[in-house]
Amino acid sequence: MKTLYYKFMAFVVTWLLRLLPRNAPMVYKGAGSSLVLAEQVSLLGFTKVLIVTDEFLGGSGILDGVKAKLTETGVEFAIFDGVLPDPAFDQVQNGEAVLRTEKCEAVIAVGGGSVLDAAKMIAMLHQNPGTLDDFDGIQKAKRPGLPLFAIPTTAGTGSEITLAAIITDPVAHRKVPVVDSKMIPGYVALDPEIMKGMPPGITAATGMDALTHAVESYLSRASTESTEVQARAAIRLIFKYLVRAFKDGNDMEARDGMAMASFYAGAAFGRTSVGYVHGIAHQLGRVCGTPHGNANAMVLPEVLAAYGDCVHVRLADLARLVGLGKAGDSASELSRLFIQAITDMRLDMELPLKPKDLKAQDIPDIIDEAITEAGGLYPVPRYMTEDEIRRIVYGLLPA
Ligand SMILES: [Fe+2]
Repeated sequence: MKTLYYKFMAFVVTWLLRLLPRNAPMVYKGAGSSLVLAEQVSLLGFTKVLIVTDEFLGGSGILDGVKAKLTETGVEFAIFDGVLPDPAFDQVQNGEAVLRTEKCEAVIAVGGGSVLDAAKMIAMLHQNPGTLDDFDGIQKAKRPGLPLFAIPTTAGTGSEITLAAIITDPVAHRKVPVVDSKMIPGYVALDPEIMKGMPPGITAATGMDALTHAVESYLSRASTESTEVQARAAIRLIFKYLVRAFKDGNDMEARDGMAMASFYAGAAFGRTSVGYVHGIAHQLGRVCGTPHGNANAMVLPEVLAAYGDCVHVRLADLARLVGLGKAGDSASELSRLFIQAITDMRLDMELPLKPKDLKAQDIPDIIDEAITEAGGLYPVPRYMTEDEIRRIVYGLLPA
């Protein structure tokens, strides 16, 4: 009975994601593109903007070029640097208050996924005053947000192209997924110069998040020809450049490739949604505070292996795409090689394999919520049993 309900929900989500009208952002790409984006602000007629960022980036000098370009082109700006990881709605309200007081006409987000998500909501809240409950769900806002310019400083979440923001309800202590195509930024700069200061651990974790988006999108029952093209492009780029960007943060070709990979993966999963890897990873974030990319990396190969036969042909496509295997290899052998390559990548980048502080008594709740999230929301290739998920999560307990 529950499976029938899950199938119905997956059908609804699939068609909603396919049919939601959305505009693609204008994209500026390559070293220095954040300055090109900043230059467009005055050309587009804005005279004052709010820069949304976090405290670390605000004090790091990373904004200097953008600020100088705005000043040079006669655009005034105010700064809100109060975004924290897993942003809560009170931070969104604080940012919107600055925007309102300073009479800003547009928002420039400079940061990782948390900053981008908070900026999307600040721009929306300004045009749609209300509580977080008013945004909880799909297409709840009546009006588009203020114009939004996005400069991602990490290559992973793809938030610069997705129609979602995850905002924490500080009272109920739950993460609220706000899904609204009116939140997609209008202008994006994928600037490797901005990303070169990203530490290796964050490069690795965010890159594995992008890989998970692309692979889960490719395996999704909601995938289409166009999302498959984007997912394959992301996977090809990640296999070529992620470990390079991890080993040498100043490798601009690798940073540029990873910025594109994250964008392509975001475009793909924004149409197809994700799967059990995210279903489990979100619970590890909620229960153990594990950063999202790390949590995905902890279970990606294990979930792919657990899917079994039903994904062999798809994973074999991906294995051939990244040059694994030899002529005549079976789909199951190619699939095994692809999963092994992800495991090797995880080891190469010394990503943590287990969350801190996972306790056996937390596991039943993690399993229940993972089943509800993945089963109820994602068009997964097949529904897993409770036992299959239990085996994966028990593998994360400390030895
Ligand atoms: Fe993700």
